[in-house]
Amino acid sequence: MKILFVTSEAAPLIKTGGLADVSGALPPALREIGLDCRLLMPGYPAVLEKLGTAVVVAHFAGMPGGIEARLLLSTLPKSDTPLYVLDAPQAYVRQGGPYQDAAGQDYVDNALRFALLSHAAALLASPGSPLEWRPDLLHCNDWQTGLAPAYLNFLGRPIPSVTTVHNLAYQGIFPPMAMLQLGLPAESFSIEGLEYYGNVSYLKAGLYYSDRITTVSPSYAGEIQLEPLGMGMQGLLSTRRADLRGILNGIDTGDWNPSSDLHLPGEYSMRAPSGKKRCKQKLQEEMGLGQEADAPLFGVIARMTHQKGLDLVLAVADGIVHRGGQLVMLGTGDKLIEQAVRDTAARHPGRVACMIGYDEGLSHRIEAGADSFLMPSRFEPCGLNQMYSLRYGTPPIVHATGGLRDTVEDGVTGFVFQEPTPHALWLAVERAMDLFAQKPAWKKMMLAGMHRDFSWENSAKAYQALYEEIIGRQ
Ligand code: ADP
Ligand code: GLC
Repeated sequence: MKILFVTSEAAPLIKTGGLADVSGALPPALREIGLDCRLLMPGYPAVLEKLGTAVVVAHFAGMPGGIEARLLLSTLPKSDTPLYVLDAPQAYVRQGGPYQDAAGQDYVDNALRFALLSHAAALLASPGSPLEWRPDLLHCNDWQTGLAPAYLNFLGRPIPSVTTVHNLAYQGIFPPMAMLQLGLPAESFSIEGLEYYGNVSYLKAGLYYSDRITTVSPSYAGEIQLEPLGMGMQGLLSTRRADLRGILNGIDTGDWNPSSDLHLPGEYSMRAPSGKKRCKQKLQEEMGLGQEADAPLFGVIARMTHQKGLDLVLAVADGIVHRGGQLVMLGTGDKLIEQAVRDTAARHPGRVACMIGYDEGLSHRIEAGADSFLMPSRFEPCGLNQMYSLRYGTPPIVHATGGLRDTVEDGVTGFVFQEPTPHALWLAVERAMDLFAQKPAWKKMMLAGMHRDFSWENSAKAYQALYEEIIGRQ
């Protein structure tokens, strides 16, 4: 089975969040179980710089906005997964991230930039493809690739498509004028199409035109059919519920393995967990926290957005400190949240520390060095950090939502609280501190989490079954 997996980010080439982790791990996992899965992504500078040998395999003309593009073929680093890179400097060579400039503003031509990616994907999936290799199915991810199923529809649906929703909060909404450059028929701008309250929504295009929709946990698949987490798409999603499936993400157990993680000052495992003490001590040192082996140390790693509930963490920070705990936070995002995090750290020198920015190594050291991980997300389609925490013997404290609900077992592998309020989070933190003081019980919880298997194999098999079902029905 040949699958073209199209995405706007993939680790280790370019990453803003979990979508990159998934895109970097699921295609190789699908190949492991015998599928010919290949990736397609934009040629941002960071991607072009990190590519190994790449050959030009096609030229595209007649693309949205009249942009010319080349298609390069390389492989995803550290794997044999073929990687097609859409090289269109006019669209993708920018200073800044994949979606925003260095000041955090969305690029003004994002509508065109991602129409281009989607258009290329649809072309590679159609009989007019410049490549000999033709996929049997197109797998799209989030709004950035939402137009691909629409293009495919108007090319006569040569192959089926799946759209995976990683986060319904990002809907790719653009003014109706965007239609002028897309090259889609005017009839697609309708409620039976990609029109969304008078605008164009790329995500809606994906949800409407794909043969199947998946999201990244079973709980989130249910939540998005209702308000409030349907975020305006609940009507469409509940109409399509027979085509909607929740498949839990896995984690890259090679990158995230406390017994071989090169980012850590010491290794540890279920059989020899004592190296974790050294990780804690070194993390306290690195972050300027008091060297107290017995102080419960809470960790946070998150994009600093409303979704992640950093305000709830800050609301319990004083309480943590008063009970003798410590808190370390890593993240970047909303400037107001960043400032509030900095202010809280400044009020508690030696007990609360933060690093505003993106730091892969530190994220591993926090997962390993913290005693417990806080993830009070208001909603969480899947969430990866709670799974990293379980694997690193760092029982997570999570809000009962989406993938957090599906991966953490209250009182067994971590702590689950029901309402996203400071009070509910605080009660969970208190439960954690009480258990932390009872060493054998805490160790039992650590080990229970470390025993859980979140490797990609199970998810890859679930995607394989879905692909077979769709292709079989064609
Ligand atoms: P989301 O995709 O909503 O951001 P996930 O939990 O699925 O949430 O994935 C987030 C990923 O990004 C994790 O691998 C996490 O470690 C990483 N991450 C987020 N912020 C940072 C940061 N500031 N530095 C390093 N890694 C980060
Ligand atoms: C999104 C979600 C997160 C999920 C990730 C990968 O960014 O916010 O919950 O884990 O995508 O699917």
